[in-house]
Amino acid sequence: MKIISGPKSLMLSSRLSEITGIPLAHTEFKRFPDGEAYVRIHENLDNEDVIFIQNTHPDSNIIEYFLVIDAIRQYKVKSIISVIPYFGYARQDKRFNEGEPISAKILAKHLSEDVDKIITVNLHNPDILKWFNVPSYEIRAEKLLAKYFEKFNPDLVVSPDKGSIERAKLLAELINRPYISFEKKRIDAEHVEIFTGDVDVLGKTVAIIDDMISTGGTIATASNILKNMGASKIVVGCVHGLFVGNALSRLQATVDIIFSTDTIENEKSVVTVADEIAKLIKMS
Ligand code: R5P
Repeated sequence: MKIISGPKSLMLSSRLSEITGIPLAHTEFKRFPDGEAYVRIHENLDNEDVIFIQNTHPDSNIIEYFLVIDAIRQYKVKSIISVIPYFGYARQDKRFNEGEPISAKILAKHLSEDVDKIITVNLHNPDILKWFNVPSYEIRAEKLLAKYFEKFNPDLVVSPDKGSIERAKLLAELINRPYISFEKKRIDAEHVEIFTGDVDVLGKTVAIIDDMISTGGTIATASNILKNMGASKIVVGCVHGLFVGNALSRLQATVDIIFSTDTIENEKSVVTVADEIAKLIKMS
C-alpha cells in the first residue's frame, strides 16, 4: 500500500502514514508559469493499493485530483481509495434558484470516476453520499471534537443555527452538558444575523460547534452576542477550518479558544481524523 498526499494535505497524510505504517509515495507537484498544475509520481505503483488524499477546495485542488488519478492509473494498481477530507461545494447541494447547477452532485459524479472507494469527513449534507458512484463512507468528527472540548469544561453548548442543531445536541450528550440553538439569517456571503431567544449565559463558558468555518461570519456574530450577554469564555470547535481571508483575526476578537480538525491544514488543526481514516482503510 502507498499513500499519495495532495500538497495541501501533508499533515494529515503524514499522521496517517505514522499510524498505519503505510509509506508516503514520492511525488512532485508544481505549477507552470501560467498557473496550470503539474504532477508526477516518482515511483512504480504496480500491484499497490493506493490511498490518495486531496481536498476539493480550492478549485485548483480539483484539477490536481484528476491529474493524479490519471497518473496513478498508468500503473497496474490493485485499487485507489480516494480520501477527500474536505469535500468542497457541498453547500451547493440543491438548485436554490432556477438556472443553477447542483454543484455537489456533479462533483461527486466526476470524483468517483476511476477510483474504487471514497472516504470523506462530515459532509455538509450526508445525502451527498448517494451521488458518489463508488462505495463511499463519511467519517463523523463530533466525538473527536468532543474530547477536545472537554479540556475547557464548558457549561453549555450552542448551535449557531438550526442546521447545526443535531451536531450541538450530540456534543452536549457526549460532554454531558445542556445545549441551546440560535437561529441564523444569512445577509450575504460574509454577514449573518443571529436570533438568540431568551437564554442565560452570564458567567458561563460556552462551547460552539459548527461543521465548517469559512468567512467566520456565523461564529463571529454568535460569539459577539454571547459576550455581550455576559458569557465569560467562548470555545469554538469546527470540523473544517477554511478560515478564508481575515476570518481568524475576526474571530480572535471575541473567541477565546478556537480549534479544528486537520481535514484542512491550518494553525488550528489540533484534532486529527487520521485514526478514523485508518480504521476505514483497514476494513477494505
Ligand atoms: C452553514 O450552513 C454552515 O454550517 C456554517 O455555519 C457556515 O457555512 C459558516 O460560514 P461562515 O464562516 O462564512 O459564516
